[in-house]
Amino acid sequence: KYLKDDELTQECKDLLSSLPTEMGWVASTFYKYQGFWHPCRHLQGILSCQKHFEAQDKDTLLVTTPKSGTTWLKALLFTLINRTHFHHSAHNHPLQSNSPHVLVPFLEVKLFLEHENPDLSSFKSPRLFSTHMPYVSLPKSIHDSKCKLVYLCRDPKDTLVSLWFFTNKLRLQEMGSRSLEEAFELFCGGVSMYGPFWDHVLGYWEESLKNPDKVFFLKYEDMKDEPVVHLRKLAEFLGCPFSSEEEKDEVLEGIVELCSFDNLSNLKVNKVGKLPSGEDYSVFFRKGEVGDWKNHLTSEMVERLDRICKEKFEGSGLTF
Ligand code: A3P
Repeated sequence: KYLKDDELTQECKDLLSSLPTEMGWVASTFYKYQGFWHPCRHLQGILSCQKHFEAQDKDTLLVTTPKSGTTWLKALLFTLINRTHFHHSAHNHPLQSNSPHVLVPFLEVKLFLEHENPDLSSFKSPRLFSTHMPYVSLPKSIHDSKCKLVYLCRDPKDTLVSLWFFTNKLRLQEMGSRSLEEAFELFCGGVSMYGPFWDHVLGYWEESLKNPDKVFFLKYEDMKDEPVVHLRKLAEFLGCPFSSEEEKDEVLEGIVELCSFDNLSNLKVNKVGKLPSGEDYSVFFRKGEVGDWKNHLTSEMVERLDRICKEKFEGSGLTF
């Protein structure tokens, strides 16, 4: 069944009426489902995905918190997994003419949003999908299969700033911008897309400790700091390690360069292309730096968010 923009299944409508609500960041109200906040369309996608997605053993699922570098990791994983078909330096490499979001589609905000039960037969194994779904909301088949999860998150202060810029770009002009103070309050209260942020991160962090062969946990800052090191680890985790020949030929460095912020953000497709939903691909590229929060958050904001994070992550072994 094809779902039009404003069409929700009866199941979703029934569920919505029973859920707590909060003010959303863009236009729609947020609903709290399984402990996390979502606009109703995302919730529809999650429900359909939970009901119909059949994971396969060879699948890779990229899971991210919004604004943690999803676009970047989509590009890196696609290039890594498909490197025997497409050499990173080929002039016709798929990234040269396609957005990473087209090459690695979201499950709940694309495939299972457009169709309640999409036909995924055109995706050739090994398949690569992405999602922002929290661990508790993952479809059962993901746990039952041997598919692998790559999780990416980012310093909460940079995540907040990036999310604030991004959602303001998505707001209609007549709605005006949301102030940083307002966004900050919502974020600290756990009310953000797929938030609370800390619960999202902890769900996957704990699972990666329990089951390191299933969940690979990665931070944006670490990837920025040593991209080749983490790309090598990713390849090993996914069962497609780089050969000594590839190491010698500097294939890792080449992939990192192809997927770099400077390269991707300057490609024509990412400058002028648009998502089917109308947003410019360019909204996914802003600064691509670590620590931009220093240019936006006041020292009171920093102190408060740091305190909340210290409290939430206490005893987990995770720090930012
Ligand atoms: P900033 O807003 O801090 O610049 P997502 O892809 O999850 O929506 O995250 C978007 C963030 O990742 C933005 O952060 C964006 O600039 C940054 N980004 C996009 N492509 C990147 C790349 N190739 N390398 C590093 N960062 C990238």
